[in-house]
Amino acid sequence: AFAQVSVTIDAAKPGPVINKAVYGQFAEHLGTGIYEGMWVGPESKIPNTKGWRNDVVGALKELHVPLVRWPGGCFADEYHWRDGIGPRDKRPVKVNTNWGNVTENNAVGTHEFFDLAELLGAEVYINGNLGTGSVQEMSEWIEYMTSPSKSTLAELRRKNGREQPWKVDYFAVGNEMWGCGGNMKPDHYADLYKNVTTFLRAPKEYRPQIIASGGHTDDVKWADVLTREVKNDMAGVSFHYYTIPTGKWEGKGAATGFPESQWFSTMQNTLRMDKFIRANKAVMDKNDPQKKVGLFVDEWGTWYDVEPGTNAGFLYQQNSLRDAVVAALNFNIFHQHADRVRMTNIAQMVNVLQAMILTDKDKMLLTPTYHAFRMYVPFQDATSLPVAVKNNGKYSVGNASVPQVSASAARGKDGKLYVALVNTDPNKATDVTVNVGGAGAGKLTGQLLTATAMDAHNTFAQPEAVKPTAFNAQASGGKLTVKLPAKSVVVAAVE
Ligand code: AHR
Repeated sequence: AFAQVSVTIDAAKPGPVINKAVYGQFAEHLGTGIYEGMWVGPESKIPNTKGWRNDVVGALKELHVPLVRWPGGCFADEYHWRDGIGPRDKRPVKVNTNWGNVTENNAVGTHEFFDLAELLGAEVYINGNLGTGSVQEMSEWIEYMTSPSKSTLAELRRKNGREQPWKVDYFAVGNEMWGCGGNMKPDHYADLYKNVTTFLRAPKEYRPQIIASGGHTDDVKWADVLTREVKNDMAGVSFHYYTIPTGKWEGKGAATGFPESQWFSTMQNTLRMDKFIRANKAVMDKNDPQKKVGLFVDEWGTWYDVEPGTNAGFLYQQNSLRDAVVAALNFNIFHQHADRVRMTNIAQMVNVLQAMILTDKDKMLLTPTYHAFRMYVPFQDATSLPVAVKNNGKYSVGNASVPQVSASAARGKDGKLYVALVNTDPNKATDVTVNVGGAGAGKLTGQLLTATAMDAHNTFAQPEAVKPTAFNAQASGGKLTVKLPAKSVVVAAVE
């Protein structure tokens, strides 16, 4: 007979805490990610608070957004913070050379960003400019934001409306230094990093955790060199990896209307994240056995061909059930590496790449990815628990296959035990037995996200085509069996 898939949670062996920052967001000056999507300005007819859309902020609050990374991305290495302070109508107008060569009027700057963070109750992650900036410029930005003194810069902050220093939770020295940040080698960057951090002075209570810009995909040199060369002042090394269905930058694949072969390759390519994290951890464990430095996956998500007829520089794409499954698979991987992966940021929050929210003028919709983030909220700051999956099925296309079920479990801050289950197979449902510490479990209460079509998605005409539904299972004969539908995500409390 066919052995049933079983998931066994070892509640007696708590692992590391899943830092809430693993559920971080990323908002870059890119396309309509900030302008239109979130920022409409205080004069707009669209209801807003200090220029930020009430509808979008309200929906994001439900995700308990722990932190937001800003202002880029590639944009960060051409961003000069002084352009974004003072009266908005006097700010210089620039060209966003990375993203569509559109004008950037600098309406959103440091003060506006901190307003957004405050509205969301989120921590801030500011990405500094090493590419076209200077040590002095970064050092002065930190002084402007965090100095309680009467220095000219601190007084300028007060004149611009902020009396108290801000706490800058995280600050990164450049972005993608191997590419858009300056096409450097890691050794060169390691020296620049030490140079910059020497001069990032802030009072202890306002001082950011500093992040070094690291590698991507299968390149572990950055994590290796940085953890070897930099001995202090580095909370984390960043790492970027995007899921591209075809694996090729030219012809990435469409967000909807794709063939099953691309559903499959999307699953396959997403699961590579685990291998990349392991490879980075291996070099970090050698250089930093005490695990002082985190691996911050500060860009991840699906990257498709842009929607037909939209600006290629705006990275606007639809978001389907497939994206929700991708998000859940990544979460389950991140949880497993909670010892090092202490922050991640999905790219990006609104209207860009794998977004939570899409907007069209005054309308907005919540994407399937939004729903996955919402379902996983109990995992923020939860204590990870070991999970063993036995008799796992295989989802195969041709000669290749991926595991059918992905599972993760944690003890939430509320004391409850949570389990997350993902079925990667778009055609076959499966039964999964859930055991806790070998003893079995009585019932499971939570939510299910699935749909009939692989590319089911929400539109402005039908904004609720994909949304979670209540999901329960009850033990019978001492056995808790979950009927996990094809292409689905379940997050539930187990009692
Ligand atoms: O998220 C879009 C872009 O992808 C970022 O600006 C850059 O860091 C990466 O290449």
